[in-house]
Amino acid sequence: STPSILILPGDGIGPEVMAEVVKVIDWFGEKRDLKFDVSHDLVGGAAYDKHGTPLADETMEKAQKADAVLLGAVGGPKYDVLDFSVKPERGLLRLRKEMDLFSNLRPAQCFDALADFSSLKKDVVAGLDIMIVRELTSGIYFGEPRGIIKEGNERVGINTQRYTESEIARVARSAFELARKRGNKVCSMEKANVMESGILWRDVVTEIHQAEYADVELSHMYADAGAMQLCRWPKQFDVIVTDNLFGDLLSDAAAMLTGSLGMLPSASLGAPMDNGRPKALYEPVHGSAPDIAGQGKANPIACILSFAMALRYSFDLGDDATRLEKAVEKVLADGVRTADLLGEDGATPVSTSEMGDKIIEALTAS
Ligand code: NAI
Ligand code: MG
Repeated sequence: STPSILILPGDGIGPEVMAEVVKVIDWFGEKRDLKFDVSHDLVGGAAYDKHGTPLADETMEKAQKADAVLLGAVGGPKYDVLDFSVKPERGLLRLRKEMDLFSNLRPAQCFDALADFSSLKKDVVAGLDIMIVRELTSGIYFGEPRGIIKEGNERVGINTQRYTESEIARVARSAFELARKRGNKVCSMEKANVMESGILWRDVVTEIHQAEYADVELSHMYADAGAMQLCRWPKQFDVIVTDNLFGDLLSDAAAMLTGSLGMLPSASLGAPMDNGRPKALYEPVHGSAPDIAGQGKANPIACILSFAMALRYSFDLGDDATRLEKAVEKVLADGVRTADLLGEDGATPVSTSEMGDKIIEALTAS
């Protein structure tokens, strides 16, 4: 049956960048005969405005059934006054929780044309293409006991790092599967030197590797040393797999290796559905950017690259994903820039839709 995509543009620049993704999807439909059953719905403030909730139950049901969900961004100053239970972010959190998206994929990819943009030396980042897999549904952000308690006459803040074997195993599998579609190399990061959960993490990753993925190259690194290596020579890595807390820090650090927020895609994957595809949500890392919303200034590349990830990881269309990424690379090499990709040198930026059109042109020429 035709693979399905649910599009949730959301708020602020979300709908603006998603409009460019729709152009790309249409292009693949017309020129490559890739047919998708595409539907659109509301999330975040846009859903609150219509339904009084940031994610309607019908939308949640559609998301559970879709082969891939593409999300723009949620939130904005208009909604800051809302009660926590109906804040736009809650729509996104509900999607992640109910779809049980335990594996968060954050690529750090540096296009040569933007290597000057990085805070690191050009030769350290040019051509960089690594993937951080962060466990997203467990670990210290969720572990019990937690709270602030009174001990004698002072307060104590408590969080618990807790990982079950099966939680580690499933995210490890997801990293090994990814590595097979990329550079066939996984580096697992924890702190087995000082943490029990780290010892278990290392054991389970090693067991899964030996039993099921011996063809993939596996190494282990303490997460603090990993942070150092990420800045020193990031190209040594292909896939990095790590827990929720370390993954939060390492993926934000890795993001800055590559330059603008407007360039960063992400995916969150869950368990396989009946048809074998994982539950999946694809979204740019950036938010709704209220400061530039409605002005046609937003860079659509993060959202377009998120769709490239969907092609590769949900639909097994790696060649088409590469073709799309190459088109983005071509456009950047030609000097086409949205405002976020320009310094103070007075060059003229293109608009959101012009950037989308250039990418379509490059696809057609490819
Ligand atoms: P943001 O990512 O929306 O913006 C940070 C800065 O980067 C702004 O100056 C913005 O103009 C710029 N920027 C972001 N994306 C861009 C793009 N595609 N092209 C060009 N420039 C871009 O983060 P901020 O300002 O902290 O949050 C704004 C709103 O977005 C808040 O309501 C926040 O809660 C929400 N948010 C939503 C996220 C999501 O939907 N996943 C993630 C982060 C924030
Ligand atoms: Mg973070």
